[in-house]
Amino acid sequence: MIGLLDSGIGGVTVLKEIIKLIPNGHFIYYSDSFNNPYGDKGSDELYFIVKSIVDYFLKRGVVAIVIACNTASAICVKRLRNEFPTIIFIAIEPAYKMVHDYNPSGKTLVMATKGTLESEKFLSLYHKYDNNNTILFPCVGLADLIETGDISSVDKYLFDNLNKYKNVDNVVLGCTHYPLIKDNIRNVLGNNINFFEGSIGVSKELLRQLKKRKIDYEYKKLKIEFIDSSDNILKEKRFRNLLG
Ligand code: DGL
Repeated sequence: MIGLLDSGIGGVTVLKEIIKLIPNGHFIYYSDSFNNPYGDKGSDELYFIVKSIVDYFLKRGVVAIVIACNTASAICVKRLRNEFPTIIFIAIEPAYKMVHDYNPSGKTLVMATKGTLESEKFLSLYHKYDNNNTILFPCVGLADLIETGDISSVDKYLFDNLNKYKNVDNVVLGCTHYPLIKDNIRNVLGNNINFFEGSIGVSKELLRQLKKRKIDYEYKKLKIEFIDSSDNILKEKRFRNLLG
């Protein structure tokens, strides 16, 4: 079994990509909506929240853990790898290197949580691939609006905050909730923007690690167990709808 975690249902965008590569895998998805949002938590507080999910996954016998949350990856993965050196942790990061590879001169908007943008992990990636034509925009509160499914508030948020960035070419979706609102972002920034997201890289890395360690990952049938820490029954329904 492979464990995935996020502060809510946003990590479904990562699971969708993983299923393209591992169509008959067994997954447990942990939606920590009780502690949502992760984006403005202090690093110790977030670490202990994420560690308790990791402890749960280990009791359930997972073979790998995908941190399907940019914020938790940026803030916690180094410490988790030190504390659990034998466990496979796959972390996601804003796809800023992809901009460097595909459209390095384009005007770029990086959308992510405050926690991600201020993290050491993201800042070193940013300084390494900086195209000197990039805006870092901390989308405080946006993941919460997506999580609650309040689409008219999402549209208002995007209009109020992104309208001034109409001239960008590249948009890095640096939070796993944001691919769920690509159309809404296009409505504000126009149809010509290129989106960049980290979930494809994460899926490839997961598969690479499983193969490298000769771990079985394919079964007869796809199985996805969903857990939500706030016991909100509507979450599972939305999650499975989004998964399609
Ligand atoms: N999906 C999380 C991320 O990728 C959401 C952050 C939050 O809970 O604030 O960063």
